[in-house]
Amino acid sequence: MANTETKPRRTILSRHALIERSATLLFTFSLLVVTVGGIVEIAPLFYLENTIEDVDGVRPYSPLELAGRDIYIREGCYVCHSQMIRPMRDEVERYGHYSLAAESKYDHPFQWGSKRTGPDLARVGGRYSDAWHVDHFINPQSVVPESVMPKYAFLLDTKLDDALIEDLLKTHRFVGVPYTDEMIAAAKADFRAQADPDADWDGVVERYPGAVVANFDGQPELTEMDALIAYMQMLGTLVDFSTFVPDASR
Ligand code: HEC
Repeated sequence: MANTETKPRRTILSRHALIERSATLLFTFSLLVVTVGGIVEIAPLFYLENTIEDVDGVRPYSPLELAGRDIYIREGCYVCHSQMIRPMRDEVERYGHYSLAAESKYDHPFQWGSKRTGPDLARVGGRYSDAWHVDHFINPQSVVPESVMPKYAFLLDTKLDDALIEDLLKTHRFVGVPYTDEMIAAAKADFRAQADPDADWDGVVERYPGAVVANFDGQPELTEMDALIAYMQMLGTLVDFSTFVPDASR
């Protein structure tokens, strides 16, 4: 009687069993698959011109705003505050237009944050007066009694020095922010002029359209309080959302 039993065929599936039984092979091939997948998905983003849509109005930070942003990072404000409005109805109704990628393209590192003990700050610019910010930073509970935000009154007494401002701009240029030679040459002057409405600040608003010029903390000296409030007051104000149309082709 002929042997009717058939030998298991060497199909691609039976070969796959080999990989499944050897941890080393399985690991090696998994790594290979994940690497190829990762490269295909991620690498083009670094080269595509349209990864970040260009949006009118977005500009590098002015020297004073940039110094304020450094204070924001130093004080760990990002631990309690996000700067990223998600495109969901409740967020948009509370905070305003959802954040665009372009709005944080000059942020190194970005300040999206991951926790909201306090509200999102992406569009806090112009929402309060400078005097409100001063009172709030000195003692948050004086304006919002139930606030758990710490006091930052010492910022009023910490004078700001312009010794490193050019280097700060140059460092940001090094990582890709398009500061021009003119902006760097004028950095020290712009740094002081933005907080002094009596100074010649035309150059500041020419180089950094939409920059708010004010004596933010009301004191004659330039302090960390001035820089932090200058930064707060520009957040989310650069793009004109009454005329902004998202580019549907992207
Ligand atoms: C421990 C968490 C915590 C830290 C740290 C913190 N905040 Fe707050 N912040 C809050 C809370 C809570 C509120 C809401 C109550 C209030 O207005 O004080 C708030 C409110 C604010 C507001 C008003 C926002 C609005 O739309 O009403 C601003 C501006 C602000 N914080 C800026 C800062 C800055 C700048 C820093 C860093 C120097 C900072 N916060 C650090 C918790 C924090």
